[in-house]
Order: sequence, then C-alpha cells, then structure tokens
Amino acid sequence: MAETNPVAPSGPAACTHRVTLGVCAGISIYKACDLVRRLQDRRCEVKVVMTAHAARMVAPVTFQALSGHPVITDLFEGSGEPSIAHIELARWEELFLVAPATANILGKLARGIADDFLTTHYLANRGAPVLLVPAMNGSMWRHPAVQENLRILEGRGHVVLQPAKGSLACGDVDEGRLPEPAAVANEAVAILEREGGLQGVKVLVTAGPTREPVDPVRFLSNRSSGKMGYAVAREALQRGAKVTLVSGPTGLEPPSGADFVPVVTAAQMAEAVRARFRECQVLVMCAAVADYRAAQSLASKRKKGKGAWQLDLEPTEDILEGLVPLKGKGQFVCGFAAETEDLKQNALAKLKRKGLDLVAANDVSREGVGFESDRNALSLFWPDGSEERIPEASKTDCARALWDAIQEALNGR
Ligand code: CTP
Repeated sequence: MAETNPVAPSGPAACTHRVTLGVCAGISIYKACDLVRRLQDRRCEVKVVMTAHAARMVAPVTFQALSGHPVITDLFEGSGEPSIAHIELARWEELFLVAPATANILGKLARGIADDFLTTHYLANRGAPVLLVPAMNGSMWRHPAVQENLRILEGRGHVVLQPAKGSLACGDVDEGRLPEPAAVANEAVAILEREGGLQGVKVLVTAGPTREPVDPVRFLSNRSSGKMGYAVAREALQRGAKVTLVSGPTGLEPPSGADFVPVVTAAQMAEAVRARFRECQVLVMCAAVADYRAAQSLASKRKKGKGAWQLDLEPTEDILEGLVPLKGKGQFVCGFAAETEDLKQNALAKLKRKGLDLVAANDVSREGVGFESDRNALSLFWPDGSEERIPEASKTDCARALWDAIQEALNGR
C-alpha cells in the first residue's frame, strides 16, 4: 500500500459525495486500498463492493476498515435469502466507480451479465454516473473484444479512464497500468461536481457526415466519424441535459438517454435541426455537413461502360446560416470549423457569418487528431476575438472541456 494513513473514515456529515467503489481482481488491487483514502480526502463517503476473486487477493476486512462500512462480496450474504442490498446501494450512490476494472468485468457490464453482487448492482443503476478504470496486460487491453466492450460502455455514457503506460506486473512495459489513485479520485470528484450542471437544459447536437446520393449505389460524403459529436452529446447527458442528437450515418452506438434522430442527407439534417431549434437552449453543430450535392441524382446505377463521367454539383443549404434569423435571445449556438490553414481567421469569419456564440476550430490537416481519430485538439474562438486552447486529448475529454467553457458562458449571461 502506498501510505499508512490512520484509519479514520470520514463520517457522513463531513462528506459531500457518496461513492460505491467496485473492486475486481487485478494485481493493481493494492492501489484500490489507497483510492479509498484519496476519495475520503476529497470528502467522499465510500462503500466497497468486491468480486469473489478480488476478495481472494485482498481480504474484505481491509476495505471495511478503510471505508468504515461493511464490504459486500456476495449476493446471498447474511440471511441466506437473496437480498435487495444491490438496489439499496444504487439508491444511495451518487457515483459508481470500478477500479481496477478487469477485462472480464468490462465484458459482463457491456453485455448485462449479472452473476454476482457487483454486476447485479450495476444493472440496478438509477442514473448515477459510472466511472470505469480498466487495468490489465497491454495485449488484453488492445484485444478487439475488450475494445468493443469499451465502445459499448462509452456509448452508454460511462466514463472510461485510459490506463497509464509503464511497467506492468507481467514484466511488460506497456499500456494497462491503473492510473495513480489521486488521479482517479480527481476524476471521480470532477464527475460528481459536473453532474447536474446542465440539469433540465435542452441541448441539440448534430454529428457525423451527411451523404449526398449520386445514383442508387454511390454517394458524396466526407471523413467525419461522428465521434466528436457523440462525445459532446454524451457529456451533455452526463451533466443532466435533455439531449437530442441529430446524426448522419456513423457506425456508432447512439448514446442512451438521448432523443436520437438519424438522417442521411444535408437537406434532411437541415429539416431535422430547423424543426427542433426553437425548442433548444443550446445547439452544438458538430456535423460535417456536405457542402455540395449532385445537381441530379440518377434513378438507376451508372454503368462503367459509359466512360468518363462528369458530375454537376450544386451547393447544399448552410444549416447554421439559415438559423440566424430564427435565433432567440437566450439561445447559445456553438459551431465547429474544420480548417487546414489560417485557423483563427477562417474560424472567426465563420463565427461572424453564422451568428455563433462560440466556434470550436480544429486543424484537420494535423496527423492523429480530428477526422476518424479518437483524439482531437480544439481552439475555441469567442465573438470578442479571444481564444482558448483545448490541447490534444481524447474526444471525451475535449467534449468535457468544451462543455466547461459553454457552461461558464451560460452562467456569465
Ligand atoms: N455547417 C452547416 N451547414 C453546412 C455546412 C456546415 O451548418 N452546409 C456547419 C458545420 O456543422 C459547422 C460549421 O457550419 O458547425 C462550419 O463548417 P465547416 O465545414 O468548417 O465550414 P463551411 O461553412 O462548410 O465552410 P468551408 O467548407 O468553406 O470551410
């Protein structure tokens, strides 16, 4: 264990947050002991749930002494009857944190398998945010099965803390380490403090590309994956907003809890956004709307025997520009700007032309960020010309920083 703090669990009166800590069987379980203390340092009351395998690695009595609460490992604990403790705990908690989260537990949570207390408790969740902190061997972490489960869990709006890189228990130097307990506690408290910041606010988000048909089998589109827009929608949900997500075609799981409106073309997206704009308080227009469509889409497939093919393209409607005359006083509109040069100048010109309150610009020529990537880096430009940087980070983290900035602007109004 990292430190030997005297065992002095903070009483409920001193605590501002209630956290259930789910502990699984990974070598980094020793850090979970310290994590209890770090959470208590941050005024969290902690109740611990362990899997049966975890309880073979560290005795539950250790966590009981640290947390000041009995540790639950078994669905049938106590009377011999199946208890409803998993429901009671779900009513009590404000955050469900799993650290370390093994590949096995990620699979069970993703697929809804409930064969012990921890997994059954997860299904009884009553809307408390879920923070998962995976730790495992690097090859296991990168396995497509694990990555697929993570995508499902993130699609549900859960926060997944990326494992750190370094030496692992197996001797490899790789990614897969449990981040330091203080960093996990910081993340937990940040989630708890953000929670509810957009309570009841109606948010409209657009995401993904649009597709403009050329003939029944071909279309014009762009490289947008939709990941940034989905992360923005998920983060707004996490903060208590009522979210509508208008999305072009992506391979992504719609965030649960959002009102999901799938569209294909720019014209369909324009119609979907216009129909919902008056209702919303905040619009975040992340979609990479196609700027051109075929002047005429062919009714049957163009055969290649016909030789060279010249397409006539016509511009699509600019959705944001079309909203300028409809915009009410209290509404906040954030646009995105995908640029390959003169980032600031182009972004500010778009902000003005489209009547935006904020433009989030990304340099799409940069390797490893933006289109198709899981990472992004943004420059936020405000109407007074000021600029704020969101340095390269996961799209989830960028979405968080973007909402922090939007919330600050809304609070300052
Ligand atoms: N946008 C829109 N309607 C369009 C095209 C873009 O509402 N037909 C929105 C995007 O969702 C984004 C912002 O306008 O929020 C800027 O999009 P971007 O593609 O960066 O710029 P464009 O306006 O298309 O201009 P250009 O392609 O010349 O850079």
